[in-house]
Amino acid sequence: MPNEWSQLQVKLPQLLEESRVYASRGKVAEYIPELALAPSGALGIAIMNMKGDLLTAGDCRLSFTMQSISKIFTLMLALMDLGEEAVFTKVGKEPTGDDFNSMLKLELVEPGIPFNPLINAGAIAVTSLLRGATPADRFGRVLDFFHMLTGDDSLQVNEAVYQSEKRTAHRNRSLAYFLKENEVLDEQTDVEEVLDVYFRHCAIEVNCRHLASLARILANQGADPATGRQLIPRRYVQITKTFMISCGMYNASGEFAIQAGLPAKSGVSGGILTFVPGRYGIGVVGPALNSKGNSTAGVHLLEQLSRTFDWSIF
Ligand code: DON
Repeated sequence: MPNEWSQLQVKLPQLLEESRVYASRGKVAEYIPELALAPSGALGIAIMNMKGDLLTAGDCRLSFTMQSISKIFTLMLALMDLGEEAVFTKVGKEPTGDDFNSMLKLELVEPGIPFNPLINAGAIAVTSLLRGATPADRFGRVLDFFHMLTGDDSLQVNEAVYQSEKRTAHRNRSLAYFLKENEVLDEQTDVEEVLDVYFRHCAIEVNCRHLASLARILANQGADPATGRQLIPRRYVQITKTFMISCGMYNASGEFAIQAGLPAKSGVSGGILTFVPGRYGIGVVGPALNSKGNSTAGVHLLEQLSRTFDWSIF
């Protein structure tokens, strides 16, 4: 009986090519103009096991920006900075059922705090909590966190994507000002400075391999699988994983939990970070998105893999 890793080696390229056709059912994000330049037919994946062996298929060398995937890491950093209580006075713990950039519930539901840290409003609130004397210090800490977790100090912001979002983020700007009005962003907080840190962390450029190595740490409860060193407190990883299940794929999180059954976080650049607990970290990219903002081909590929190898955690 061949082990799962060698079965994966055989099956991965085949499942990837079968899923690639689903890219044509999606559309590359255009509301951040620079993202519209991504190759819409691309699909790539990297899977890393706990020993650090890597399996890749398709367009796994494609670089892309993390976008919303960065939100799970800024959440963990804010929890490490301030603890649970302080973070969860500013942001809730519930899915919304609305789009990731929706403003609806901020006005409709008291006390007007974002429902969870993974929608845009919630992530902007979390970004405002990060410690640091200046915006540059705060973003520097986020980038250092990624350097430490990936072991790759060359990770940096894609300036063109950052500028492109900064220029066109009218909706995020209105969300952030609304948060200020609701006192989620406090008196001293400069809205534009918070947004600047947020746009920068969304624009950190990675490839599937980076996502797989980050996911592998979450798969290992926050400890580096190579050294055993606890990089992120286990409790904060537990909280984050729970959000990944309930809100990580936005208002398609229930569907993804049923079809793939894995904690995951998507981004509008087409990236998905997911993992099989205790076994694999996985990074996927497929820039063509469905109406919920998730990669069409990427979601299909993960669902097929999970079914084939019985990965659902449920
Ligand atoms: O704030 C935005 O709209 C983007 N920087 C990130 C949104 C995102 O990735 C939503 N994911 N599916």
